[in-house]
Amino acid sequence: MRTYAMYIDGEWAPAASGRTFEVMNPATGEAMATAPDAAAPDVDRAVRAARRAFEEGWRDVTAQERGRVLFRLAETVRKKAKELAELETLNSGKPLVESEYDVNDVATCFEYYGGLATKLHGEVMNVPDNAISLALREPLGVAAQIIPWNYPLLMAAWKIAPALCAGCTTVIKPAEQTPLTLLELAREFEACGIPKGVVNVITGFGESAGAPLAAHPEVDKVAFTGSVEVGKAVMRAAAETLKKVSLELGGKSPNIFFADADFEAAVDGALFGVFINQGEVCSAGSRVLVQRPIYKKMLDAMIEKAKKIKLGSGLDPATKMGPVVSKAQMERVQRYQEIGKKEAKVAVGGGRPADPALQRGYFVEPTIFYDVANTAQIAREEIFGPVMSVIPFDDEAEALRLANDTPYGLAAAVWSRDIFKALRMVKRLQAGIVWVNHMQPTYVEAPWGGYKMSGIGRELGPWGAEEYLQVKQVHINLNEAPIGWY
Ligand code: NAI
Ligand code: MG
Repeated sequence: MRTYAMYIDGEWAPAASGRTFEVMNPATGEAMATAPDAAAPDVDRAVRAARRAFEEGWRDVTAQERGRVLFRLAETVRKKAKELAELETLNSGKPLVESEYDVNDVATCFEYYGGLATKLHGEVMNVPDNAISLALREPLGVAAQIIPWNYPLLMAAWKIAPALCAGCTTVIKPAEQTPLTLLELAREFEACGIPKGVVNVITGFGESAGAPLAAHPEVDKVAFTGSVEVGKAVMRAAAETLKKVSLELGGKSPNIFFADADFEAAVDGALFGVFINQGEVCSAGSRVLVQRPIYKKMLDAMIEKAKKIKLGSGLDPATKMGPVVSKAQMERVQRYQEIGKKEAKVAVGGGRPADPALQRGYFVEPTIFYDVANTAQIAREEIFGPVMSVIPFDDEAEALRLANDTPYGLAAAVWSRDIFKALRMVKRLQAGIVWVNHMQPTYVEAPWGGYKMSGIGRELGPWGAEEYLQVKQVHINLNEAPIGWY
């Protein structure tokens, strides 16, 4: 069992209290490492380091050099890809092939923001005066970044890359369930040319480490991905010193299938939309809306395929679905499986797998409920596990009404061969990301974030960097004479 330390001010540190916590392998239910259990004094030390690093150097480092740092990070991730992917699978449970995709996306994210660093610029305005009017973009300062456990290293990259690109420093807290890949990457920070204090990694729990980080007066910006409940708490904590806030809070995204969709693609797309990454996906297509003429046929085809999804250790190449991340998450999914059985009909799954080999890990069956009312709890609340709710609809108007009848608005997908219908839906869906004839592809070039209660702000692309910048208006008077007012 490995003992990890935190990375604060360029040094490896235990918690000031000396306390640690166990990090689990969800496939076996056994501890695989320990990490420091940080609290307010550790957070304070890290934030002060980030402040110092910002004021005393990083803010003046050229964009070219910041870009080079990010390119070196990308190169390092590619070199260590195999090791990082295996560790990600061991710690999060996801199948290795998915970890490999994630690690590649991590490198791509660092490359993208490495390139963007030299393309951030201000503007010149045409003001009606003898003057030059500028809008400069400046880094916000110190960022606090709190991330979840579903894509541990990728969520870290989505946060660290735009912050460094923009010239901010950061204190990042991985989820207590999955701190390991980020701590492994932190070993390379110095060699990549990241100065002391520019990126600090704090490990610990939400209440004891996350809350003081979100509330710290020396933090200028908080970026959070996770539950709505904690998102609100983060926003309240940020209000005290009016920190800038960006939140990505998941959803209950509709995956909408019209009768004229390509049938085979539809079946695959519905399963992929909600079962990939064990359903632990913020944009999971957990509400599958199917038009009545294909409802029965599509349900049968999905059941057929869902039954064959192979559960197992993520390291086994035959595995299509790993365990969920933690015992708590397994129990949460089980709770919703029980609720679903009362609210709707079970097509497949509905509990834990019977296989004796899967009893110790946090495995749950891929589950499909059908004839689900959109008012049911399983259609309204984010489950964050492999649970699909299938809901029938008659026409376009009903599909749209059901799709938008949710407090969330992260993502949506529409499947149809009729481009007019698909685009009418695209225009009316209340979601920050809308896919047509696909669900889940995510690109660092494209904006990511939610409408309604799915969040505030956008990650990725230039929008992601914008969240770490503020605009300074500069007015340069070219008249040498006095104003002449007095
Ligand atoms: P969570 O929102 O509690 O945890 C996410 C991160 O926030 C972790 O790093 C955690 O340590 C931190 N955190 C927790 N409480 C905090 C506080 N008071 N102040 C500051 N930071 C805090 O999510 P949890 O409990 O792990 O999962 C519960 C549900 O949340 C899931 O079932 C899912 O529905 C949703 N969720 C959504 C995610 C998304 O990608 N949008 C990711 C993870 C969870
Ligand atoms: Mg929580």
